[in-house]
Amino acid sequence: MTKVDLKFVEGLTLAERASLVTGHDFWFTAEVPGSKKMMLTDGPSGLRKQADDADALGLNDSVDAVCFPCSALTAASFDDDGLLKLGQHLGIAAKAERIGVLLGPGVNIKRSPLAGRNFEYFSEDPLLAGRMATAYVKGVQSEDVGVSVKHFALNNRENQRFTSSSNVDERTMREIYLAQFERVVKQAHPATIMCSYNKINGTLNSQNQRLLTRILRDEWGFTGLVMSDWGAVADHVAALKAGLDLEMPGNGQASVDEIVQAVNEGRLDEAILNRSALRVLKMVERWGSEGEVSDYDKEEQHRFARQLADDGIVLLKNDDQELPLTNDTKLAVIGELAEHPRYQGAGSSHVNAHHLVSPLDAMPAGARYAQGYELTSDQEDEQLTAAALDLAKQSDQVVFFAGFPAAMESEGFDKTSIDLPANQTELLAKLRAVNPHLTVVLQNGSVVAMPWADQVPAIVETYLAGEAVGEATWDILLGRVNPSGKLSESFPFKLSDNPTYPTFDQDKNNENYREGLLVGYRYYDSKHLPVRFPFGHGLSYTSFQYSDLAVKQADGQLTVSFKLTNTGQVAGKEVAQIYVGNRVSMIEKPAKELRDFVKVELEPGQSKTISRVLPRRAFAWYNPEQEVWQADNGEYEIFIGSSVADIRLHQRIDYQLGTPVQVRLTSETYVGDMMKHQTPTIKRALQETGLADKLATILNSDNAAIFANIPLRSLVMAGISPEEVQQLIRLANA
Ligand code: BGC
Repeated sequence: MTKVDLKFVEGLTLAERASLVTGHDFWFTAEVPGSKKMMLTDGPSGLRKQADDADALGLNDSVDAVCFPCSALTAASFDDDGLLKLGQHLGIAAKAERIGVLLGPGVNIKRSPLAGRNFEYFSEDPLLAGRMATAYVKGVQSEDVGVSVKHFALNNRENQRFTSSSNVDERTMREIYLAQFERVVKQAHPATIMCSYNKINGTLNSQNQRLLTRILRDEWGFTGLVMSDWGAVADHVAALKAGLDLEMPGNGQASVDEIVQAVNEGRLDEAILNRSALRVLKMVERWGSEGEVSDYDKEEQHRFARQLADDGIVLLKNDDQELPLTNDTKLAVIGELAEHPRYQGAGSSHVNAHHLVSPLDAMPAGARYAQGYELTSDQEDEQLTAAALDLAKQSDQVVFFAGFPAAMESEGFDKTSIDLPANQTELLAKLRAVNPHLTVVLQNGSVVAMPWADQVPAIVETYLAGEAVGEATWDILLGRVNPSGKLSESFPFKLSDNPTYPTFDQDKNNENYREGLLVGYRYYDSKHLPVRFPFGHGLSYTSFQYSDLAVKQADGQLTVSFKLTNTGQVAGKEVAQIYVGNRVSMIEKPAKELRDFVKVELEPGQSKTISRVLPRRAFAWYNPEQEVWQADNGEYEIFIGSSVADIRLHQRIDYQLGTPVQVRLTSETYVGDMMKHQTPTIKRALQETGLADKLATILNSDNAAIFANIPLRSLVMAGISPEEVQQLIRLANA
């Protein structure tokens, strides 16, 4: 292949260049003299390489590939290293299959529990989503396979996803919905970004120059290629101008003709076409893979899929050490999901699994199974119920497999409920009545309401655990593996507790992000609204003690250190979470936000001292007026927790990051704010104008609170003239 540069591009015919910026077909880029075509393939949790009939929704078959756990579960591992290894395995598989770019991971924020694609996304928190995605992308790309990080951006709903507008304020967009993309772009340098279907504040993403060029390239320094989601382009010329390089899957010759005509008619600057054509060629040059498909070790990948699931599965509840199960227990396994597990999501991420091991396949010798309910119905089947109750009565312990049937959640549409089907909850209540030793194992892509949770001693969340679901589930139930997963999203008591409940999917054309920054735990925690299981929650078969918090400021950076001790009887891993609460900035702010986490492995009795540096950004908020990440000097709280609601260590600090709050006085600055955030210049101005004494008198009077709450321009109410105020402002801002 020839080395590609602008000169090479200019040597191609106009039609050849036009062919490059549109997909050759469903999965390939175009081939031009001197450059090969390249294959793109889904997806986040395994390869969906289609040999024949192509589709974007996982309907038709794809090659045999290992199905890894969905992102909802991998994120629950809170393990950067696990995600890096997942990426490497996917990269190895993709390389062997001659795939140039892998379409995924999806890093959109889980804003509503109803969003159809939540299983495919990491978290409601941008730091966690960004860290997981960064590790994943580094892993894949270390195997010389490129990644397309998707879906850029604010694609948080499936219904009307091609047209609906995500309406959001700038600060929320930057802090919650773009931050994880920003991290992955800056730290992992993905080959490509996939632009999503939706609009943002009325502008279609594929035509959004601010998003695709100003933010992505000019601000974040992205140098790769931007491709469209499949069918996301409405006006290809407008899209190219905005910064989209590759339309997928393209519309064959018609797409080529359209671009040629636009150039010939002067509607599209040839330089723009050349720039995008070059980016396509560079992508193929860097990531294109040639030659025959080769083999790779799928059994090894299956073992890794099991390990990854082991690391993510969350032990939600375990009263009186119901778990782990012991070998001598007479065990009943109930629920069709044990036999026909939900182990992956539906849609473009659907994998033709290499080797599915169901919980029934992997259950311990001696355990007995009853189907209990039908997945295809939500009505009770009396015979199945009777057989399940009979078995439960004869057993010491019952493991009940429950979850969302496949028809309930998928890419392409949103859910309408987060309740388990009625036949499952009814059976659960009956089982509980005959045998209180009931463990519920959940299989679901996203948040489940659990009004029955208080009735059962143990609950295990396995999400969609991939093809090793059976082995991994029993690893946890039997204690072969000590659970260490933590929820990457909050589980509210009921759907209506969620802040998006009144607005989600209410308007066909608009999705209004009225809750602003208060997404997920940021809302529940700030509002002191209890949830069923909080963000970051997950139990272990051992216990951990946190101690010795120390916060040090030196050389312009802040180091947090603390000691973690395994105080139980077995080895285990703990995800220690570091949250920061901003108490200084005069803006809306959540009570606390996750700013770092670390997964630590400890033998019984062992202690480790954890030391982490928090970067300036951990204290910053996005100031939309000045278009900067602003970090203010002043008070912050540092929280170390085992979940957002289980804070073990806490310290207030006065942190000087270099930006004093409220540096400029205006006639609308309030007296109280000016006094609270006095810079040396303000202090001097107050002295020089003689207002320091006057204000001190006023602010020491009985009416202090009233005067603190008036702006400078109204100080005439306190006998201070407009001229004095103007002089103060002039001097303070000089
Ligand atoms: C999905 C993408 C996927 C593409 C190709 C689209 O429908 O939104 O995530 O990569 O199809 O299958």
